[in-house]
Amino acid sequence: MADIIQLLPDSIANQIAAGEVVQRPASVVKELMENAIDAAADDIKVIVKEAGKILIQVIDNGTGMSETDARLSFERHATSKIKKAEDLFQLRTMGFRGEALASIAAIAHVEMKTRMPVKELGTLLLIEGSEVKKQEQTAFEAGTSISVKNLFYNIPARRNFLKSTPVEM
Ligand SMILES: Nc1ncnc2c1ncn2[C@@H]1O[C@H](COP(=O)(O)OP(=O)(O)OP(=O)(O)O)[C@@H](O)[C@H]1O
Ligand SMILES: [Mg+2]
Repeated sequence: MADIIQLLPDSIANQIAAGEVVQRPASVVKELMENAIDAAADDIKVIVKEAGKILIQVIDNGTGMSETDARLSFERHATSKIKKAEDLFQLRTMGFRGEALASIAAIAHVEMKTRMPVKELGTLLLIEGSEVKKQEQTAFEAGTSISVKNLFYNIPARRNFLKSTPVEM
């Protein structure tokens, strides 16, 4: 019999992996708030429209990111929180997989604004379905804002099986 196993294209593998990290809008809120806490923020704003079906935005006053880190943060397995396997035994952060932002960006439209306090200008990034649509310098307060729109736009099964707005809320 002929061989039948194929390697999935990265884009599909990413979408499937993303579904494991993000099951519903609340998963996005959790991941973004954990990132804000890990970034030492002591002021975190959460804006949610239609239980996150329209918009989820988390704004923090944490460390912010350099332009290069902002871009890298959306890659899979990209993390500043561990460097080697032993680090897993002394975690001091909520995240460590380097999966959350890559997952969210694979299945939604994401806008990130981020600025490190020492820098004059920050970075604006627009990513849709893992594709970088825009990257430019921007004026922004110190910290990070991430807006997530059209969650599950490319996974109709997930989008259609979201519960009612009050339940998701
Ligand atoms: N709000 C933020 N402020 C500053 N840096 C951030 C923020 N959010 C993400 N980052 C940076 O981007 C990296 C990637 O974030 P992401 O959430 O994808 O992975 P993680 O937090 O390292 O691990 P996990 O997938 O378990 O959450 C983080 O390691 C961190 O360096
Ligand atoms: Mg995280």
